[in-house]
Amino acid sequence: MEVKADSKKFYEIECDALVVGVHEGERPVQGALFEIDQRAGGIITSLIETGELTGKSGESVYIHNTGEIKARRLLLLGAGKPDDLNINIVRKMAGTAARTLRSKKVRSFAFLRRSQLSLDESAQAATEGALLALFDPDKYHTSDKTENHIETMILATTEGDIQELKYGIERGRIIAEASNFARDIINEPGNVMTPSELARKTEEIAREFGLEIDVLDETRMKELGMGALLGVAQGSAEPAKLIVLRYAPKFGSNETIAVVGKAVTFDTGGISIKPADGMEKMKYDMAGGATTIAVMRAIAQLKPSVNVIGVIPATENMPGGRAQRPGDIVRSMTGKTIEVINTDAEGRLILADAVAYARKLGATKIVDLATLTGAVSIALGDVYVAVLGTDQAWIDEIIAAGRKSGEKIWQLPLDKEYREQIKSEIADIKNVGGRKAGTITGAYFIREFVEDTPWAHLDIAGTAWNESNKPHLSIGPTGICVRTLVNLICG
Ligand code: BES
Ligand code: ZN
Ligand code: ZN
Repeated sequence: MEVKADSKKFYEIECDALVVGVHEGERPVQGALFEIDQRAGGIITSLIETGELTGKSGESVYIHNTGEIKARRLLLLGAGKPDDLNINIVRKMAGTAARTLRSKKVRSFAFLRRSQLSLDESAQAATEGALLALFDPDKYHTSDKTENHIETMILATTEGDIQELKYGIERGRIIAEASNFARDIINEPGNVMTPSELARKTEEIAREFGLEIDVLDETRMKELGMGALLGVAQGSAEPAKLIVLRYAPKFGSNETIAVVGKAVTFDTGGISIKPADGMEKMKYDMAGGATTIAVMRAIAQLKPSVNVIGVIPATENMPGGRAQRPGDIVRSMTGKTIEVINTDAEGRLILADAVAYARKLGATKIVDLATLTGAVSIALGDVYVAVLGTDQAWIDEIIAAGRKSGEKIWQLPLDKEYREQIKSEIADIKNVGGRKAGTITGAYFIREFVEDTPWAHLDIAGTAWNESNKPHLSIGPTGICVRTLVNLICG
């Protein structure tokens, strides 16, 4: 779908449908709503009178006879209370509009801007919302494919600066395309998206967008002493890869942000094998890595003034004749020894070596993201991402970037007392901490390997997969945290 900026009056825009948000309690007595009502024969007044249009969020009314409006259809969307309006609601409404109109075979629509929100930010949000909403995982259907396609969304302003509008659209497009790229590769099944395939795909991205790339194979990992990562990989016939992407700004910077993403391309649990029921979903255990690649892709286009590296440890977690056993002790790159109590707690093992490598590459700040624990869904459901870390200012920045991006992030504590739970009798540390506070002990484990570098950890296990189709979002991978991290790094 193409997103176009326009400076025509809404009733002059030639397209299949015009989308208009209507607030709770709003009456068509002034402004655009009044004009629409006048031009469309009082339809809004009558819908409000009959109670069919109340403006409550989630509501939608579709109308065919638009009178003196050039768009052939009108889609009225509930915009909720006027005081609650923000760019996150704009993003959702644009998404709902795009999906609703696609199902009605509409090919072009205009999204009317009615709010006082800043032009570039609302244009960015609307663009993101629509492009994200139209993502559909039907690549592998050979019949009954989604046949309707929306070709154009038009964002119009008659007062603001059209350049500002275009800037917002461009930024929104870059971020949404990056998110959809992540969702695409998360969707790929484990037999397709192996660590080698992920590395190959990332090389393609690096070439296309001008990022430096280095893919470490197992020999180099061995030389670096990455026993924790290699321990996870050894049960698989697919070789592990440590993918490193680098972005450098034109004028140099003393700061290097490292984004480190878990990419377990399939997590069976290893010898501590997972139950069969639902195991197929463990193809999304590489969401953190996919997100990291997507963020780097957007960064290459948005060009922030800071160095950024993406570090993606990619491996399968398989049971096999050579797989690591519960009780095995491995030596990580930092020299710390780890007792592997449960081979299903593999994410923290590969991240231990990946964050250590990020430090070796000169990271001055680290953010890692991972589908690390089932426990995070028990704590926060599919609503909030958990953040934990060692640097409160960095954590606060991440939460704020999340708020701006419409991605909810909640901090969990990481006090020293939790260290007790991952003490090992025989090694420096063990990889599980019992039933209590699973998300915290998982994060604490990673903390042991970042040492004094400011660090935050995002547990996206509860939020990376959407269980059911929603008006603004398809079932499947959500691309969670792409927007947050891009906004965090690019401001
Ligand atoms: N990949 C899983 C976590 C996960 C669970 C992601 C559900 C998405 C949905 C992770 O590797 C894992 O298995 N974690 C274990 C840790 C436990 C053994 C301490 C878990 O959460 O059960
Ligand atoms: Zn696991
Ligand atoms: Zn896992």
